[in-house]
Amino acid sequence: MKYCFVRSFRCTWVNRPPDAAVRTYSSCSSRKLERSDGMDESDELRVIKMNNQNGHHGWPDKVGIIDIEIYFPSYYVDQEELEVHDDVSKGKYTIGLGQSKMGFCSDREDINSLCLTVVEQLIRKRGLSFNQIGRLEVGTETIIDKSKSVKTVLMELFKESGNHDVEGVDSTNACYGGTAALFNSVAWVESSAWDGRYALVVAGDIAVYAEGNARPTGGAGAIAMLIGPNAPIVLERGLRSTYMEHVYDFYKPNLMSEYPIVDGKLSVQSYAKALDKCYDGFCKKAEKLYKTNGKKCFTLKDLDAMLFHTPYCKLVQKSLGRLSFNDFLRSSDLELEEEYKGLEMFRKLKLEDTYFNKEVEKAFVDHSKAMFEKKTKPSLLIAKEVGNMYTPSLYACLVSFIASQKIEDLPGIRVGMFSYGSGLAATLFSLHFSEDISKGSSLRTLHLSLQNIKLRLASRSKISPKTFTNILKLRDSTHHQAPYTPIGKIEDLFPNTWYLEQVDGKHRRTYLQMKETPCIQRNGCITKMSMNCESPKIAEGFCKVSATPICLSESIQPV
Ligand SMILES: CC(C)(COP(=O)(O)OP(=O)(O)OC[C@H]1O[C@@H](n2cnc3c(N)ncnc32)[C@H](O)[C@@H]1OP(=O)(O)O)[C@@H](O)C(=O)NCCC(=O)NCCS
Repeated sequence: MKYCFVRSFRCTWVNRPPDAAVRTYSSCSSRKLERSDGMDESDELRVIKMNNQNGHHGWPDKVGIIDIEIYFPSYYVDQEELEVHDDVSKGKYTIGLGQSKMGFCSDREDINSLCLTVVEQLIRKRGLSFNQIGRLEVGTETIIDKSKSVKTVLMELFKESGNHDVEGVDSTNACYGGTAALFNSVAWVESSAWDGRYALVVAGDIAVYAEGNARPTGGAGAIAMLIGPNAPIVLERGLRSTYMEHVYDFYKPNLMSEYPIVDGKLSVQSYAKALDKCYDGFCKKAEKLYKTNGKKCFTLKDLDAMLFHTPYCKLVQKSLGRLSFNDFLRSSDLELEEEYKGLEMFRKLKLEDTYFNKEVEKAFVDHSKAMFEKKTKPSLLIAKEVGNMYTPSLYACLVSFIASQKIEDLPGIRVGMFSYGSGLAATLFSLHFSEDISKGSSLRTLHLSLQNIKLRLASRSKISPKTFTNILKLRDSTHHQAPYTPIGKIEDLFPNTWYLEQVDGKHRRTYLQMKETPCIQRNGCITKMSMNCESPKIAEGFCKVSATPICLSESIQPV
């Protein structure tokens, strides 16, 4: 039985078990993380597992995200330049959709290589052995084989360790697969099948559209998340609301092409409908779970941040406005008077009649503007610059949010997460951050490891719209070609990126890894140190910033 003290919906579990071991890691995350208590992380998981078997706890406590790594491609196209190239009115992509850049891959990268890269980066950053992973789940909608999962390709990374005892395969439903993989992995850790090891969740996609109005909403990337007990970011139990329906808003029936068939307007409407339904269910569950003193309604005020699956940033701002409209419709007359002055004329409207009501949209986007700036906008850093990554999108928002907050602002916060995958599958769930931000704590370590995101975004190469279009044409014409040897430039990839070496006549793919080379040896870059590192030591300079956080204390500057 667990009890929860409610402090404006921040939760403190009172029967928290004594931490099996307090983590104190050295702060530079590119090294193997060292503990001051002499235990390694496997020892800790074994202790927790033993406790469970002895019946001290019904399930492992505080199951959630222990660490996150992100990978995005080294190429991007500028959306302003794309507007000119596509001959659309100035501002359509940048203001109308809210996008500034779009990441994309050459034919050197596919879904397998993206996931190989991000998994290896996470394992390396964390100093883990592949033996410590007991479950690996992949969420993706980028399908290159109708039978063989991306997960099985990732097992190549485990080969040397001899660990083949790794559960999990791929989950697919448009952009929702990553969330399905996350829920499966958390459930595994909480289940009788758990063997005391970590789960690894991978979400990756290459989002490309045929020429036309959907193309500027593409993107690409991958996320890896380490899942286990005593996590700094916990999935709140019992607080999750799902909405699923059969809709043809976006689907990929042509397996010879990377491009989806998309009914853009229907997808926007379906997204809004799913959001309304999930929020309604989430609020009801929250109200039941936390019977507050005299407080009737769960509202956006009870969340410290609200993050969304982000096809394009403008939709997210409208979505926060939409949740504020939901709060308005559920508010009491007293609240209406106090908080929603001037909006009374919308009181009688029904949610389902307002998906494209511009007046309502504008009124509640305006009303929620301050809330958007504080609770949502910080999560859009990567989405604005990389675009829609599909399955990793929501988790890239989490990375952006953590990276852009001060560590002092993170303890104890509750973050709402809305996951949407066309077709459709959607869930609204919540994450609760730990209170501990002491030196060496997991949350501080995670926060620190994400501090180089802006630097990594800035170190990408801008490609002209014309070359971008040609690269997409090449991808399209060679997709599923066998045999095939890609022609994309290997030297343009970030250090440590896995890439497609070739596809043989039987469609079997082989991959190689771009090895990191210190700048000084490659083309005369010098390394100056930059990032905020508590113990600024191990800086190694690379011409591009590796996806693995490197502890730098000044910025990298070419000479
Ligand atoms: C989203 C999508 C439908 C938009 O395509 P579109 O129909 O050509 O775009 P619109 O003409 O509606 O323009 C988009 C917005 O830019 C605005 N806009 C257009 N030109 C503009 C300009 N020059 N300056 C500023 N804004 C401009 C439009 O008014 C519109 O704003 P609104 O959404 O507030 O009405 C399309 O990109 C798509 O299909 N994307 C893929 C599917 C998707 O992302 N779905 C989301 C849910 S999963």
